[in-house]
Amino acid sequence: MSQEMSKEDLEYYDECQGSRTHPETTSKLLTKLFRARNIVSILDCGCGTGAYAIPLTKEGINVTAIDINNSVMNRAQEKANRQGIGIKFKNANMINYKPNKRVGAIISMYNTISVLTRDQFKKTLRNWHEILPPKGLLIFDVYNFDYMKRKYITTRYLTDAKQIGSKFYVVFHDDRLDEKEKIMRVKMEIFKQTKWTDLKKEIYQENLQIYSVNELEKILKEIGFKILEKHGGYSKKGFLPFKNEKSEFIVITAEKINQ
Ligand SMILES: C[S@@+](CC[C@H](N)C(=O)[O-])C[C@H]1O[C@@H](n2cnc3c(N)ncnc32)[C@H](O)[C@@H]1O
Repeated sequence: MSQEMSKEDLEYYDECQGSRTHPETTSKLLTKLFRARNIVSILDCGCGTGAYAIPLTKEGINVTAIDINNSVMNRAQEKANRQGIGIKFKNANMINYKPNKRVGAIISMYNTISVLTRDQFKKTLRNWHEILPPKGLLIFDVYNFDYMKRKYITTRYLTDAKQIGSKFYVVFHDDRLDEKEKIMRVKMEIFKQTKWTDLKKEIYQENLQIYSVNELEKILKEIGFKILEKHGGYSKKGFLPFKNEKSEFIVITAEKINQ
């Protein structure tokens, strides 16, 4: 989501994509984890349309939410205002953003750090290490390279067919895994039609960096984080257990170890 998006595109994102990590359920689990460690304030990096920032605020967590894309943030702000939730979304780059108040945890959910290059990811981790207090928590996810290299889909496939207001959306993926570079080259063909006329096709492309558990462990250790828990993805009932080569995602809960 690097470009400005229309209202319908944002609604499509919320209904079809933003829900894939089951943010309502996952936010409840994160809240439990924060409460158990007396964490009351957190930073949500790459908050998108507020999938996590809004439910976490409803749970009583004090959330600072940032995103680099104005149109997604405006939608997040509108959604929060509509629900009477006092949260102020900020336009900022997570690579170097420093909140002006203390936070006990940082979250960056649903393939958000995957859009950063590996060097940018390390820079971001160093920034987060500076922001967090000792034992501060870091929660993020990436696609699991060990799963993807075994099981990625090599053909074009249909992901969504949905009506949003008066617009129809039909979305195909034609992604390629670059095993050497560990990059998922995502290509989406988005067909949009209003009523029975006006069929348009848009192409959306982005490169997602994919990591194996071993590589993540090495990077996190090098910067000063210890992995506390790994999960393999999300469901309506909660996190899925992590099984290497069988889990689509690696959801990391890590703790800051060095000063
Ligand atoms: C796949 S979306 C996930 C959004 C949200 N976390 C969710 O769970 O639905 C990734 C988000 O990260 C944002 N983003 C990408 N690079 C960023 C950066 N350097 N700093 C802040 N936000 C960034 C994008 O604009 C996008 O909204």
